[in-house]
Amino acid sequence: MIVSRVILKNWRNFRNVNVPLRERMFIVGPNASGKSNFLDVFRFLRDIAKPEGGGLQKAIRDRGGISKLRCLFARRYPQIEIEVQLADTPDVEPEWRYAIGIRQEVRGNRQPYLSHEKVWKGDELILNRPDEQDKKDFERQTQTHLEQINANESFRDIARFFESVTYLHLVPQLLRYADAFQGKRLEDDPFGQGFLEKVAKAQVGAQKSRLHKIEEALRIAVPQLKQLRFERDETGHPHLEALHEHWRPNAGWQREDQFSDGTLRLIALFWSLLEGDSLLLLEEPELSLNVGIINKLAELIYQMQRQRKQRRRQILVSTHSPDMLTDKGIDGRETLLLTPRKEGTTVEVATDITELRDLLEAGLSVGDVVLPRTRPQNIEQLGLFS
Ligand SMILES: Nc1ncnc2c1ncn2[C@@H]1O[C@H](COP(=O)(O)OP(=O)(O)O)[C@@H](O)[C@H]1O
Ligand SMILES: [Mg+2]
Repeated sequence: MIVSRVILKNWRNFRNVNVPLRERMFIVGPNASGKSNFLDVFRFLRDIAKPEGGGLQKAIRDRGGISKLRCLFARRYPQIEIEVQLADTPDVEPEWRYAIGIRQEVRGNRQPYLSHEKVWKGDELILNRPDEQDKKDFERQTQTHLEQINANESFRDIARFFESVTYLHLVPQLLRYADAFQGKRLEDDPFGQGFLEKVAKAQVGAQKSRLHKIEEALRIAVPQLKQLRFERDETGHPHLEALHEHWRPNAGWQREDQFSDGTLRLIALFWSLLEGDSLLLLEEPELSLNVGIINKLAELIYQMQRQRKQRRRQILVSTHSPDMLTDKGIDGRETLLLTPRKEGTTVEVATDITELRDLLEAGLSVGDVVLPRTRPQNIEQLGLFS
């Protein structure tokens, strides 16, 4: 299943968003255009659906309260609305639609509450809140049915999907020196401290097959790398080891603390693509990759997704690097362009912008056509004076 469309009203710096999504999407925009805020919608839904320590109130509280979430540019429609459509593939009618509206009490303790919560299965509206019970007991509107196991039975698939959304913002140093940083680990481990343990916990068969696929894909980016394996040291600690071709024949295996940052990030990314079947969110992978690899990343992701015949994992990649988009294999429909404007940021599919579509049809890469739009304007102005 993939998220095939997302519709937002008054979410953070977006007043109005309504865009289709495909299996692989690149979210492109200048700094502070809202790339992370866009990805956060899906983390927000995960935080609501999480079986332990989840829920609407906590998800809002963890983000600093409703005033931080509601769009500051909003005037007439102060409620936040999120709708997500789920389908097997892009371009088909959704199998599921989940929608919520969030408001805040005007008086009293100003608690956030649901102005609506709706679920459609196909065309059928199977949940429509507020219902009679909600109207009798206002407290009920402070919780979603999504977060309640005994209330989400008829749409458990959606709850499972949201619950397993994964956010990856891997920090190679934290992965390498996980032991030294012990103690401080976020629950969902976005920074990869628990990555080696995760590899260790996989069933031997799955572990071997995944490492083998990763090894093959990595050769495109790191040609010297010949073999990748999992090992435990004398004290039982998990490690990844790699054999490089240019090494002296008896030099032995290299451990993850000697891998480059880029290699580590790629390994963790590929593992995640092979592991789950819900949405994967990847923040600015260009941060520790060299340009040579950034150019190939889109293709690598594509190949990794193809490794699975079923239950392919959807991935949303945020980036401000047009280098990632110079690959001609990227379809304009796979690119969302974020443009900050006076009234908030707009989100558009690249092929929906006429002038871009023409350039793409003429054979330019997404990177070529998008580059001038992601550069902050004042950089151009600086150019005027140089
Ligand atoms: N509720 C809100 N209303 C309007 N703007 C917001 C809101 N919350 C955050 N922002 C703005 O969003 C911007 C940050 O977006 P972010 O997603 O971090 O950007 P990026 O990841 O593209 O660098 C900041 O300029 C911040 O002021
Ligand atoms: Mg960001």
